[in-house]
Amino acid sequence: MKDKRVLLIVGGGVAAYKALLLTRLLRKAGIAVRPILTKAGAEFVTPLSLAALAEDKVYQELFSLTDEHEMGHIELSRSADLIVVAPATADLIAKAAGGFAGDLASTTLLATDKPVLMAPAMNVRMWLHPATQRNIATLKADGVSFVGPDEGAMACGEFGPGRLVEPEEIFAAIVAMLEGPAARPLQGKRALVTAGPTFEPIDPVRGITNRSSGKQGFAIAEALAKLGAEVTLIAGPVAQPTPVGVKRVDVETARQMLAASQAALPSDVGVFVAAVADWRVDEAFGTKLKKEKGGPPALTFVENPDILATLSASGPRRPKLVIGFAAETDHVEEHARAKLARKGCDWIIANDVTEPGVMGGGENAVLLITQDGTERWDRAAKDQVAGQIAARIAKALG
Ligand code: C5P
Repeated sequence: MKDKRVLLIVGGGVAAYKALLLTRLLRKAGIAVRPILTKAGAEFVTPLSLAALAEDKVYQELFSLTDEHEMGHIELSRSADLIVVAPATADLIAKAAGGFAGDLASTTLLATDKPVLMAPAMNVRMWLHPATQRNIATLKADGVSFVGPDEGAMACGEFGPGRLVEPEEIFAAIVAMLEGPAARPLQGKRALVTAGPTFEPIDPVRGITNRSSGKQGFAIAEALAKLGAEVTLIAGPVAQPTPVGVKRVDVETARQMLAASQAALPSDVGVFVAAVADWRVDEAFGTKLKKEKGGPPALTFVENPDILATLSASGPRRPKLVIGFAAETDHVEEHARAKLARKGCDWIIANDVTEPGVMGGGENAVLLITQDGTERWDRAAKDQVAGQIAARIAKALG
């Protein structure tokens, strides 16, 4: 990304401060940022902050003698690999859709021959207004790309779609566009990933769970999203941040995880990383068990559904590629190969959990077991292993 250049148009809105954070992310990645600040944008962030973070001059006026002398507005519109509009206000969107050129930002958008990415931000009613939706459709037909908006609470006190997505998500969309389609072999593919432990209640305050951190599953979801996949991550209770661009569904029990996995179909690939509790208490108690009440309770257990085996046998809805995990303590390859057959999946990724630092730690040493044979991968950080797995998935689905 070192020699890449972004022309960042900052529109006016409360969310404009996120453009400052975005500028920082871009600069940290070595991407050059040349900012254009609209009049409305300058009501929310100052040219000084933007210039300092971008480490470049801020352009504001169409009719500025010095700016025109140093770099004409036409040249400015061509000086980058990508034009990013963040926040893209209803006004900027309307101007761009209508082909207006009354100020520097809209002139730049009209004069450019470079790809454009817009991150909309506006009040929910403004976003939902047919005029805005018409403008968005026009711009999409013209080849403009969009990231967001998010849905949520707004500075104006209303709730709904229209929030600017977080800077990290805009950054990821920028990187994806700068890298081009070759770097996104999973574009258009859907992926389902389960991760973390499950929690099976005994009573309202107690339950059965395990020590899975969710790290490996979250890293795989992130790696698949980076390659362009549309990822649904079904997570048990873990303290992991949601990877950028990933749709996360939080669940507690194995049965909820199964239902969420089935709801995420159809999917091209299913990666079942979760450490699902094998058993649950037959019937969880509705009120807290009291120790005064005649000694420890007798708990009856029943088996949980096997999510991996169920989805492997889901007929026409089965993902093309189903991948299971096996945490083993001995005879790793032998046990994992038996699991491949028993569960009906295509690959098993096996690891030896007696190795220090694997369970809950940052590293993993895995075997990839397929019908064709076994590969032993070098011990590496979990996100590196995730990258390798995602690359193999892309190759298999290619
Ligand atoms: O049988 P075992 O738990 O060792 O198998 C591990 C694999 O099966 C993992 O991929 C895990 O996510 C999946 N699994 C599941 N549902 C279960 C138990 C395991 O999806 N109830």
